Amino acid sequence: MKKNADWWRQAAIYQIYPRSFKDSNGDGLGDIKGITSKVDYLQSLSLDAVWLSPFYPSALADGGYDVADYRNVDPRLGTLKDFDKMLKALHKADISVFVDIVPNHSSDQHLWFQEALKSEPGSAARNRYIFRDGRGKHGEIPPSDEISHFAPSAWTRTTNSDGTLGQWYMHLFAPEQPDFNWDNREVQLDFIKTLRFWADRGVDGFRIDVAHALKKDFKRLHIAKKSMSGFEIAQDGSDILFDRNEVHEIYREWRKVFDEYDPPRVAVAEAYVHAKRRMLYARPDELGQAFNFDLLGADFDARLFKKIISDNIRLAQSEGSSSTWVLDNHDRVRHATRYGLPKKTDLIQWLLSDGKSAKLDKELGLARANAATLMLLALPGCTYMYQGEELGLFEVEDIAHDDLQDPQWLRNVVPQMVKGKISGLALIHTDKGRDGCRVPLPWQARTASFGFGREKSHLPQPKWFAEHAVDTQDKVNDSNLSLYRRALALRKKYQSGEELEWISTGNPEVLHFKRPNGWHCVTSFNSKSFALPAGEILISSAPIKGGKIKANTTVWLKA
Ligand code: NOJ
Repeated sequence: MKKNADWWRQAAIYQIYPRSFKDSNGDGLGDIKGITSKVDYLQSLSLDAVWLSPFYPSALADGGYDVADYRNVDPRLGTLKDFDKMLKALHKADISVFVDIVPNHSSDQHLWFQEALKSEPGSAARNRYIFRDGRGKHGEIPPSDEISHFAPSAWTRTTNSDGTLGQWYMHLFAPEQPDFNWDNREVQLDFIKTLRFWADRGVDGFRIDVAHALKKDFKRLHIAKKSMSGFEIAQDGSDILFDRNEVHEIYREWRKVFDEYDPPRVAVAEAYVHAKRRMLYARPDELGQAFNFDLLGADFDARLFKKIISDNIRLAQSEGSSSTWVLDNHDRVRHATRYGLPKKTDLIQWLLSDGKSAKLDKELGLARANAATLMLLALPGCTYMYQGEELGLFEVEDIAHDDLQDPQWLRNVVPQMVKGKISGLALIHTDKGRDGCRVPLPWQARTASFGFGREKSHLPQPKWFAEHAVDTQDKVNDSNLSLYRRALALRKKYQSGEELEWISTGNPEVLHFKRPNGWHCVTSFNSKSFALPAGEILISSAPIKGGKIKANTTVWLKA
């Protein structure tokens, strides 16, 4: 069924991390056919759309966010034919499809980068990326002090064909992810070609990776020394590396392409910048929507939630967009874990300690996670969910070091003295990375790799995954999965309009808002017992007794 042009404003969107969703051929990696085989499952969640993280050919230096060919499928994950079949099956189930566009950088295996390496300084091939001479007498010092997200420096030196050392190239992420030169028209046009390639196949939307980083101030690049944190950057569009005003010209051009299609193609920006600046990417003549990540770093706290919700609805409306809500994605510790740890737990240290530095209260974490999810699903706007949260999955915090894949783990190392050793130095990892939320999904409790594939999965699954397996949860009425299914189906029935009215509860620990169609949502964050207002209970994240809700619970009412 053809959707109207505004379908995305109130959508429930589910992120699939393809390599960890379902493996159809037993090679340990999830694949496109695996997704097709689970369309019924996705349909059972009443989703409006799925967003697929990169499935393109890649050396997997950064889980696929190092793309070697933007207009193809990684042969380990399938073929374009498989992709078309999957798209057709999802569309038949009325589920739209977003693909991930990674425009800031390619893989170092991309043909253009390989060509650039073989070409002379100053050549057209090098000008597609950001090559510069080094500082110092022999060019031995990187062109600037800029720090990359994964490696110590954002510059890597090349070696010439005669074995001598050559120019440096820039990479905001791993050395295997060279940044494009977005001042180059050839680069701009090639991405438009990529957008059309997928839109012509029927893809409905695009998630734009690091959307705020494409344009750099080349005149001042030599003095750049920022880290990746988007929150330290200038808020007037004048930063050397991020969120520059000119980046919006790119998205205005893309919007014209999106609007050639019927319905217009949809896009969402990943831009780690201040909320006000983020909304610029969401303007109707640009991408239309931007991820609001404010809840990813927020405690389960009534005041914080109310502020974030109110601010984001207001901001989105001011730019003619609709808000987005995100509690989980492939880059963050799962929300059931975050909420089950003592307040102020340093998540990086907790992961580095394999979960030993603080005690995880799983029951509390899951209760809060479901209360928060149910609350977000009742809000106006678009909710983005991440595969596995419907199963109540926690972060896998104790993956053995040898099994870790994430460059955030592999590259964040510092030399440290080893006590008692004469030779002295060892490399210590300072960040365990994001593999713990990327462990392949458990489909069946009792089969090898929990029904993900045939034998081993590319990241090891812990034993406790059995309790969360889809077939375990299918057998019981009050499972986490059934809560998600019921909530998403109800949401589909009730969601309309973008109005939200806060209703005073007289209790700062309880939030209550009303939506059109007599739809009410009440969340008790930390109030032991709160008498529910009158109305028919539609669903609750925990059992309700005697018309009262406990702490860490959300209830939807019809009144
Ligand atoms: C953001 C993606 O979400 C993350 O997974 C990736 O490492 C970086 N962008 C670089 O592409």
